[in-house]
Amino acid sequence: MLNSKKEYNALVEEIIEHDRRYFDEAKPLISDYEYDQKKRQLLDYEKAHPDQIHPNSPTQRIAESVTEGFQQREHLVPMYSLANTYSEEEVADFLKRVKKLYGKKELAYCCELKMDGTAISLLYEHGKLRCATTRGNGRVGDDVTANIKTIKSVPLQLSGHFPDVMEIRGEVYLNLATFRAINAAREEEGLETFANPRNAAAGSLKLLDPREVAKRRLNLVTYGIAEGQAHLATQHEVHAYLKTLGLPTAKSEHLAVVHDLAGIMKFAHKIQAQRDELPFEIDGIVVKVDELKIHSALGHTGKTPRYAIAYKFAPEQAHTRVNDIVVQVGRSGVLTPVAELEPVFLAGSTISRATLHNQEEVARKDIRIGDFVTIEKGGDVIPKVVQVDLTKRPAHSHPWHMPTHCPICKTPVVHRPGEVAVRCPSSTCAGQRVRRIIYFASKHAMDIEHMGEKVVEQLVEKGLIFRISDIYLLDADKLARLDNFKEKSIQNLLTSIEASRTCPLSRFLMGLGIKSVGIETAEAIAEHASDIHLLLSMKAEDFLGIEGIGEKTARMIAEFFADAGNREEIRLLLAHGVKPQKPAAKKIAGHPFAGKTFVLTGVLARHSRDQATALIKERGGKVSGSVSKNTDYLLVGDEPGSKYDKAKELGIPILSEEDFENRL
Ligand code: IVH
Repeated sequence: MLNSKKEYNALVEEIIEHDRRYFDEAKPLISDYEYDQKKRQLLDYEKAHPDQIHPNSPTQRIAESVTEGFQQREHLVPMYSLANTYSEEEVADFLKRVKKLYGKKELAYCCELKMDGTAISLLYEHGKLRCATTRGNGRVGDDVTANIKTIKSVPLQLSGHFPDVMEIRGEVYLNLATFRAINAAREEEGLETFANPRNAAAGSLKLLDPREVAKRRLNLVTYGIAEGQAHLATQHEVHAYLKTLGLPTAKSEHLAVVHDLAGIMKFAHKIQAQRDELPFEIDGIVVKVDELKIHSALGHTGKTPRYAIAYKFAPEQAHTRVNDIVVQVGRSGVLTPVAELEPVFLAGSTISRATLHNQEEVARKDIRIGDFVTIEKGGDVIPKVVQVDLTKRPAHSHPWHMPTHCPICKTPVVHRPGEVAVRCPSSTCAGQRVRRIIYFASKHAMDIEHMGEKVVEQLVEKGLIFRISDIYLLDADKLARLDNFKEKSIQNLLTSIEASRTCPLSRFLMGLGIKSVGIETAEAIAEHASDIHLLLSMKAEDFLGIEGIGEKTARMIAEFFADAGNREEIRLLLAHGVKPQKPAAKKIAGHPFAGKTFVLTGVLARHSRDQATALIKERGGKVSGSVSKNTDYLLVGDEPGSKYDKAKELGIPILSEEDFENRL
């Protein structure tokens, strides 16, 4: 409760600062839940004292701003936000309000998931994707079309029947697994991690290089039509219709049409029970009046429409004590502080550790050994510390500092300018070696079952392996020296090591742990280079131009393969019988391109020649160098050559890049 204008004004300032951190820096200091509580206090005070509303109050504007580097575009229909609540009573109030405004008639409500991503508006003209725009200030947003086109499920051409102009609304989000992989890679590179999948999705959408965006593997789900739904009667039909257009929509079990509060709560409880198992994050459900003509009849208040409300789930939190802060050494030497906690039960499991990310994060939240803290499960597997309870801070506690020496090999640490990470620079550090071997064997890379962290740690500790390639020299006698390793576990591990010898080349590349090479890039490299020996002789400029590889990544890959230590490791792996397999050519059956001969001319805007050729071949087509009467299609880019004239002369169908994409 705010008791004075002074307190109110202070809270206005505080929330403006939280908005700035959230929207401009993507580095929120407090959890969404705490933010919502503060905003609620502000709203309550403004309701009671409308004469005192500060013109800069965050309740008076939509906070997200437009970003430099993008063109601004006006939405055909403004993008509103949703009123939200954490309480069942307020959902009941919403139902009462709607009924009162619209007459007492019994109404139906469409319940949906509240996806925790970032809003997007897609404009289709004559079924073609014209542009994709962020919410921005609600009226005008950033044109992020090129970035949205990196999402595979976004159709460039709608299917079925559609009006000439459609403005479709949806959410761009990241799957949790992808989010974790992005953060893990960022931690290794010494970059700041994203606070949650939503920040990561929003940040990715605003990257200026679509090739970088493609690596983030964004997803889309659509849930509304702002323009072009005149022929539909209900919100639940909207979902079904969006699906017929080929747009990604919510699964049917994540939608429900209900008629009262009990129905809404039943859906909410069902979803809440599944929440931890969903592959993406949600922060609640959205309840919308089902009948569409009521939407416009109800209108909106300020920036939120009256036809819908978000019923948000409070995050599951727990309170516990920080028993110690230890430092882990990553495979590239990055030191990560980790809180060892008094074990506590949270969201289905017992938690005894929380990542503290980096020293800046520890300093910002001033987390100290002995502190009582609130922990919360976000998108990360490991929960995070949200807040310190200062009232319980023990006397004589000290701020925590990063050690000056590597906790494993005792080498003095280094802090490169411009990076948040502190690193152990030693190339022989045992800590890094262990992490590299763990990574090599992990699910992300070679996927050697039964070779988890604990096993690798013991193998290194007992001197049974020293480097990655030593894995392939392990035998039953050596494994028998591990704790609790009997015949069965020895056999299991040897079998999975054996199976990994014929791994796909992409996984082998992942296993090597080349900086900034994720699975997508590894697959693209493997597609391009027929075998590992070829890679060893490639220069930076040879990597440049492979799908998704920019200058910086190309340089890093080339440096990796030029390094004598890395070359020796690869030589040993091959000598010990690892045989990375070239990917089998992908085939898409029954495609209209099958058996057709294409000729390419001019410069394509969105595909390299290699990519276009691969897309045609995957579909069973052929690419030829010159136009003849046997040519089925000419694919033309900018500034086409004489092939264009020849094809016209012979009456050969000519495809623009857009026609080509639509037919893919
Ligand atoms: S309807 C007028 N439906 O939540 C409101 N929004 O807090 C139009 N969101 O900006 C949005 N899931 O980014 C709607 N099933 C859903 C949603 C959803 C997530 C997001 C959306 C919106 C924000 C409002």
